[in-house]
Amino acid sequence: MDLSEIDLEYEKRIAALSAVKLVENGMDIGLGTGSTAEFVIKEIGYLVKHEGLEIRAVATSKRSERLAIDCGVEVKTLDEIPTLDLCIDGADQVDSGLNMIKGGGGAHTREKIVASSSKRLIIAVDETKIVPSLNRTIPIEVLPFAQAPVSVQIKKLGGTPILRMEGDSPFITDNGNIIIDADFGVLKDPGGLAMRLSTIPGVLEHGIFMRPDEVHVGEMEGVRVLR
Ligand code: A5P
Repeated sequence: MDLSEIDLEYEKRIAALSAVKLVENGMDIGLGTGSTAEFVIKEIGYLVKHEGLEIRAVATSKRSERLAIDCGVEVKTLDEIPTLDLCIDGADQVDSGLNMIKGGGGAHTREKIVASSSKRLIIAVDETKIVPSLNRTIPIEVLPFAQAPVSVQIKKLGGTPILRMEGDSPFITDNGNIIIDADFGVLKDPGGLAMRLSTIPGVLEHGIFMRPDEVHVGEMEGVRVLR
């Protein structure tokens, strides 16, 4: 199905609103990064402002933190709240086993830390993110010092490393590191590759994420929840 930009925005928004229905008064919430997560943050801000919802949030990026503060959401650090009730985030791809690739926005290291600090992880996506098997490039956050040796190791594992750029310069994450987007084609064993990538010295975090608790998929007909 061909979806226009407006259709995609609609699907992201209804998925986000569906996920936010799980937020309860008094909860500590992890806030994801990306265009779908922005709908989540704005909706939570609306509930705080207009319905007196009391929550505290930890953001997964500087961009999401700024938006949350602008929307009137109380933002804390993981030092202040090391365990969260719920994390709501977007994703770049979700396969039939609910394995995911994240990090299109370069925020996956903090996203993974916040997700793993949360009792429940809820993902909101538009329908174009759902695929039979993961096949997009895997974002890998790398210490700048280790760019060359990490690239060598990615090639040894059968991947093609591409340094992410922003204009003429390497893209720099909120943590001061670079991103290598690694092309492994179709991932036959995402869990196995995830483990191998994690053992490469200089890799801070890769964008393969394991099963969330729920995926809210926005479709033109409504929201489908995958568990
Ligand atoms: C940010 O680094 C990513 O993990 C995002 O969650 C992902 O790219 C989804 O973003 P969109 O909602 O903008 O597609």
